[in-house]
Amino acid sequence: MIYKPRHCDIAISHQCMLRCKMCHIWQDTRSFHETNWLDLKAYKKFLYELRDFVEDPFFVSFGGGEPLLNHNFLGILKICQDLGFKSCLSTNAYLLDEDKVREISQAGVNTIGISLDSLDKYTHDYLRGKQGCWDRAMRAIDLIDRYCPDSIINILTIIMGINISEIIYFTKWVYNHPKLDGVIFQVIQKPFNAHVPEEWHILDEYAGLWPSDNNAANLVIDELIALRQSHHDGFKIGNPIYQLELFKLYLMNPQGFIKPRRCHLGDNAIRITWDGHVSLCDEMGDIGNIKDDTMQNIWLSEKADTVKRRIAACDKNCHFLVNCYYHGDSE
Ligand SMILES: C[S@@+](CC[C@H](N)C(=O)[O-])C[C@H]1O[C@@H](n2cnc3c(N)ncnc32)[C@H](O)[C@@H]1O
Ligand code: SF4
Ligand code: SF4
Repeated sequence: MIYKPRHCDIAISHQCMLRCKMCHIWQDTRSFHETNWLDLKAYKKFLYELRDFVEDPFFVSFGGGEPLLNHNFLGILKICQDLGFKSCLSTNAYLLDEDKVREISQAGVNTIGISLDSLDKYTHDYLRGKQGCWDRAMRAIDLIDRYCPDSIINILTIIMGINISEIIYFTKWVYNHPKLDGVIFQVIQKPFNAHVPEEWHILDEYAGLWPSDNNAANLVIDELIALRQSHHDGFKIGNPIYQLELFKLYLMNPQGFIKPRRCHLGDNAIRITWDGHVSLCDEMGDIGNIKDDTMQNIWLSEKADTVKRRIAACDKNCHFLVNCYYHGDSE
């Protein structure tokens, strides 16, 4: 029996207009000067070939960078919709004005995740490095509700030192918000695209990102678990309980954190960069490029087999799994 991918995560842009404290993708100017971005034709070819290979339900997630900066994004979204893939957009919402949301509605999207790290506008804008982000995120919720009534709206929130004391209040706000479907938490990781030591969280530059009071963090996460357990709708908290438990383990001792079971990456998810490189885990290198081959050939290649074996045996103390694709039931 052939195991086929169920999920494709496309980093559709490697640019960003914000200046987030916890993510430095915006410092990567490489892609501004390169000409090897995938064009719409290349995405179309890839998605049609993928359709021939994978089965439903199949999920395509768009992230980056800021996906809305890719001027082919709406065309790509439309192709996904036409092919029956379930699409998910993660965005900082900065570009989501009325025209853009109407265009997204016409293309069709199943889920939109809006990043929002605080209900205090100054804290959110401080973290995102630009004024007006909070106002635009709030505006986006109303616009998506109005023009994309069939789309799920999730809030994506990073648990950090600076917002830990408001996380329960924040969760209750989402729960009581009639236009929001849920909140998905991530825990703060080493800032993305930043060349910092493993002990980055004790550096002054990142003060405030790491929740240094372990007890307080534990209590907050325990309360999230209790809210999730005690409500038939999970209190609109999208994270499974085993992932929330994992957050505690990681926050208690990031250097000592050990993944409880074998790494499941490579079982069913593929990652694609803005220039077409395919990988199963960033650390294990590429297994191909969608410009050169079909996903079926790449997934079934010897190179992919080798990487899948290395992933199954990987004993790295990897933080990546805390937030991404973690399935506690992996053997
Ligand atoms: C890299 S962003 C790309 C999508 C979009 N630009 C956005 O901000 O929503 C994807 C998600 O990663 C989160 N993120 C950024 N830096 C992080 C970090 N250091 N640790 C954990 N999550 C982080 C963002 O808040 C966002 O929800
Ligand atoms: S988290 Fe998103 S919005 Fe912030 S810099 Fe990274 S890509 Fe941009
Ligand atoms: S480096 Fe991390 S994500 Fe990659 S295979 Fe090892 S544990 Fe999994």
